[in-house]
Amino acid sequence: MDNKKIYKRLFKDYTSKHIYKILLAAFFSIIVASSTSAIAWLLDPAIEKIFIEKDQKLIIIIPLAIIIAFTAKGISLYLAKLLMIIVGEEVKKQLQTNMLNSFIVADTQHIESKHTGKYISNLNFDVSQITRMLSEAFLSVFKDGLTLIGLLIVMFIQNWKLSLIAIIMIPLASIIAKVLAKRMGKVVTEAQEKSGDLNRYLIDLFKNHKIIKIFQRENFEKIRSEKFVNDLKNKTLKISAVYIRSTPVMEFLTGIMIAILIFYSGKLIINEQLGINNFFSFLAAMMLAYQPVKSLTKVNIMFSQGLSAAKRILPIIDTKNEIFSKESDKKIKLVSGNISFRNVSFFYKSNLENKVLQNINIEIKGGKMTALVGHSGSGKSTLLNMIPRIYDPIDGKIEIDNQDLKKVSLDSLRKQISIVDQNTTLFDDTIFNNIKYANPNASDEEIYNAAKLSMCENFITKLPDGFNTVIGENGTRLSGGEKQRLSIARAFLKESKIILLDEATSSLDSETEQQIQEALSKLTYNKTTIVIAHRLSTILKSHKIFVIDKGKVISTGNHKELLQNSESYKNFYDRQIKQS
Ligand SMILES: Nc1ncnc2c1ncn2[C@@H]1O[C@H](COP(=O)(O)OP(=O)(O)OP(=O)(O)O)[C@@H](O)[C@H]1O
Ligand SMILES: [Mg+2]
Repeated sequence: MDNKKIYKRLFKDYTSKHIYKILLAAFFSIIVASSTSAIAWLLDPAIEKIFIEKDQKLIIIIPLAIIIAFTAKGISLYLAKLLMIIVGEEVKKQLQTNMLNSFIVADTQHIESKHTGKYISNLNFDVSQITRMLSEAFLSVFKDGLTLIGLLIVMFIQNWKLSLIAIIMIPLASIIAKVLAKRMGKVVTEAQEKSGDLNRYLIDLFKNHKIIKIFQRENFEKIRSEKFVNDLKNKTLKISAVYIRSTPVMEFLTGIMIAILIFYSGKLIINEQLGINNFFSFLAAMMLAYQPVKSLTKVNIMFSQGLSAAKRILPIIDTKNEIFSKESDKKIKLVSGNISFRNVSFFYKSNLENKVLQNINIEIKGGKMTALVGHSGSGKSTLLNMIPRIYDPIDGKIEIDNQDLKKVSLDSLRKQISIVDQNTTLFDDTIFNNIKYANPNASDEEIYNAAKLSMCENFITKLPDGFNTVIGENGTRLSGGEKQRLSIARAFLKESKIILLDEATSSLDSETEQQIQEALSKLTYNKTTIVIAHRLSTILKSHKIFVIDKGKVISTGNHKELLQNSESYKNFYDRQIKQS
């Protein structure tokens, strides 16, 4: 995206909504500019009439006029800034909302390929940079630009020769600003990356807290954490250092200019070519111009920072999903709930070498339990995830009751499917809300009932606040078996016709195991169920088993048939199922 397009886009999508506030701020900026110029201008008659001509009347009027001018300037400045702060915060809100919405609907594969830490720094750091550009820098251009023009007019009216000397500074200052802004863009990008790294590290630290203890890597982590903090410090230091780099040069130039001015104006006054009143008014205007010139040199930096932040943010907001459905897609019609895979192949984008699924052709009968078995990494979970279109086939198609999944609406498809996963994921919320997540329209009664059917009741009643207990990030305050039962409760509440079950490999104590089996039997009764089976009891319940090996279906049949016909199944059974 080129810079012009980015500005256009930011204006169209973000600032144009607040155009009235911006216009009002512009109006107040005009008052600021004219009152500042008026202050400098008033010094001319003030000195002439009061000090030279000793006018009694004006001794009151001119100081009053100066007070009025300063008050007008102060109030307008306050209002203009306030309005632009409001605009900035609104824009920030909009940018963050758009980013979060884009994450919510993004393809799972897209999210899996990125780091949360980077996104956190995009969400905070980058968005603030854009906001500053659109509010602070934008206002400065207008307000300080106009003020500078007003003051220059006063200066030129008072003495054009002196003014010419003074404005030699302006192109010099702008060259410095340009060089700095360019350098700044690069440093800021680096700092943003480092802040992303630090966020990422923090997330890892919390996630792996136990692991650090077990492997006694505290010291290693301390050293590593210091490096992350230090890297960020160095970059932020560099930003500030670049930021103030213009100071000595600017001060030196200012000194030279003032010296020349004193020399030249002294000569003009001695030769009576310049009145003392004109000189004071000129000097006041020049001094008042110092602040706007200083702000304007920073504006360049703010724009280049905002621009490089926008280059990172806008592509995130614009991310196109590959898995979506069209308005015109019809709702899926479930009759018997048969699922068929026709020549389905798949690989993950992050690893094109590994053909995870190859030419899968399977028929899954509705209302029955079908099992998938196979070694770790053979592609079972991937296959399961393709039914609710978490991933789409690269080749081939999947049908439910002869309807191509890509041709029915995603909403209606996912409504029909429940997943009870290997790693149940929960929200840091109450038990009640975690179950309710499966169906926000469910009544309290239905939620309690789902908890009962999934055998959650006995552990929930033991918790300090029962259903209102908050369970911690991803349910850290619950046991593995408890989390599994909560995910079964969710499936009960969802009442979908298709159940996908990724059976846990870890074995639970026999009583909990039995409770879970009982709950699952109730849940899957008469439903189309596909289970990644690790237990004999599940395999025996399944009317058909697919043996998957390296992304291919290598044998099909029920347990008895497979034991007779399939060498690999027999092997697999002996090694992995029998003992469990
Ligand atoms: N999100 C992902 N991105 C990239 N590769 C992946 C991803 N998930 C799985 N894989 C790879 O795809 C292959 C199949 O993984 P899958 O999770 O489907 O195996 P599985 O049969 O369910 O194994 P397990 O029994 O251990 O759960 C593996 O080689 C794995 O490394
Ligand atoms: Mg798996």
